[in-house]
Parts: sequence; structure tokens; C-alpha cells
Amino acid sequence: MNTLFRNLAVLAGALIGAAFLTAAPAAAAPGGEHAPEDHAWTFEGPFGTFERTQLQRGFQVYQEVCASCHALEHISFRNLGEGSGPFTCFPDPDAHAEDGHHAEPLCYENPNDNPVVRQIASAYMITDGPDDAGDMFERPGVPADRWPSPFANEQQARASNGGAYPPDLSLIVKARSGGADYVRSLLLGYHEAPEGLDVRPGLYYNEYFPGGQIAMAPPLLEGIVTYADGTEATTEQMAEDVVTFLAWASDPHRVDRNRTGLMVLIYLFVFAVLLWFAYKQVWSRVEH
Ligand code: HEC
Repeated sequence: MNTLFRNLAVLAGALIGAAFLTAAPAAAAPGGEHAPEDHAWTFEGPFGTFERTQLQRGFQVYQEVCASCHALEHISFRNLGEGSGPFTCFPDPDAHAEDGHHAEPLCYENPNDNPVVRQIASAYMITDGPDDAGDMFERPGVPADRWPSPFANEQQARASNGGAYPPDLSLIVKARSGGADYVRSLLLGYHEAPEGLDVRPGLYYNEYFPGGQIAMAPPLLEGIVTYADGTEATTEQMAEDVVTFLAWASDPHRVDRNRTGLMVLIYLFVFAVLLWFAYKQVWSRVEH
């Protein structure tokens, strides 16, 4: 019995260890001209979370600024209203702020019923088909649709961007070494080129981009968006918000999964304590 208990304890320990290992962010080496600047993110570590209002702001920046060039192909509209997503809850548009009181937000369990998600989706035209006559047709988006790409194909994307290809952003935070720190540094890393450096036509000097010259014009200009929640749209603020949104988009269910993992750990712990007392009780009158 003693060995059985010890084995159980070792098993529980291994499970706890494994849970922490899988939750830890992948270590990455910086790859650009300069190492990206370290930034404190709310979503870092196994207990990290996303602040919903920040995800809403980040989505606004993506939609109004980045989406004209960058796709988000792994994201469906419905993801925006699931779990920790930006629009699972949102301020009630019919509520009037009284005496500085904030009204209860509206929350939707099912993204298909969520009016904000439906409205975002329906503003995009989706190519569907073929219909009975074999023709493709256009219709307004619904929550189940994937985010549509801004270009018909890679050739068109390159033709519109001086030959450079704006990569899909749904996995960019995971795909680049330096992750969220790198993408934030890149967005804020446009400066005057150093004396004597020849910046080729159509390129911009950016000290964090490998090689130092990037085909993307500085996308974030002071006040380019007007935030619905009144936050001041400085370049720093927009960069933090949009990168937070992209980090969420790279794994929309991570926070929800971590929360489940934490519940499992608590359960295992309580179970181990109970087992220990049960063991003591059962064997209390037996001579060892
Ligand atoms: C006018 C089009 C355009 C807009 C708007 C735009 N980008 Fe880009 N972006 C590009 C192009 C083109 C590239 C490829 C650059 C290259 O390879 O030199 C790129 C590259 C990137 C990269 C990849 C850099 C790397 O390491 O390869 C990231 C990240 C990125 N953009 C983020 C954003 C974000 C976030 C926004 C919105 C705030 C945005 N972009 C807005 C055109 C755009």
C-alpha cells in the first residue's frame, strides 16, 4: 500500500510538472538587427489572461489598419465571441451611463447569437458556391465563416505591395522568434536611417527587421484609430493592443485551456489530500 501511495504521489507530481511545462511559452532567440525590447504582457505565463477591452481595441486596430494588407486565415468570425475572445462580452449599447455607473456588460455563450459577432461578419462579402448552376456567388458573412483574405491570391498581394508579401498574421506571434516582443518592437521600430545607409526605394528603415529594411510602410500613426472606449490612440498604445490581439489570435483557446488545467490541478491536489487521510484512516489500527 505504501508503494501504491508513493506511486500515486509520483504520478500526480509528474502531471503537475507536465502541465506547467506545456503552459510555458516557447523560448526564442531574437533574430533581427537589434534584440526586441522586452515588454510586460498581461498574457504571459501559465496564469496570464487577456483583458477584454484591450482585445477589443487590438481588434479595432487590426480591422481598421492591418486588415487591408494582412489576412487572419486561421480565425473565424465566431472565434471573436468565444471564451476569452474580444466580443464574448461587450458594453450594452442601450444602457446609459448614470452617475458614472458602468452598466453590466452583455455576454453571449453562443457566438452565433452574438449581435456584435454577427454584425462584424455581415460587413464582409464571402465568396461561396458553386450554386445549382455551377456559379460562384457572393453573400454577406456569417459567424462560421473564416476571415476573408484582402487579396485574391499571393500574386495580387505582391503586386499591391511592391513585390513583397504581407504574411498572414494569425500565427505571426508564434512564427517569429521573439514573439510578441518582436512584433511590438517592429511596429515601433521605424526611425531615421543611420548616416550613410542606403535605403532602397520602396523600403523603410526598421532596426528590428532582419536586414534593417522592410517593405511595409510604418502602419501606426498617432491617432490613426479613434478608440470606442476613449483610450488615447498613441502609437505605443496601438502597438501593445494590436499585438495583444494577435497573441490571442495565435491561440484563441489558450487562456480557457489554462483555466481548465488549473481546475484539474486543484482537483488533483484535493484528491491527493483526501486519499492521504483515507489511507491513514484505513490503516490506523494495523500494526506496521
Ligand atoms: C499597406 C499594406 C500593409 C499594412 C497596412 C500593414 N502591413 Fe504589415 N506588412 C506589409 C508587407 C508588404 C510586409 C512584408 C514586408 C517585407 O517582407 O519586407 C509586412 C510585414 C509584416 C510583418 C512581418 C515582419 C517579419 O518579420 O517578416 C508583421 C508582423 C506585420 N507586417 C504586422 C503588421 C501589423 C500589426 C499591421 C497593422 C498595425 C500591419 N502590418 C499593416 C504590408 C502592410
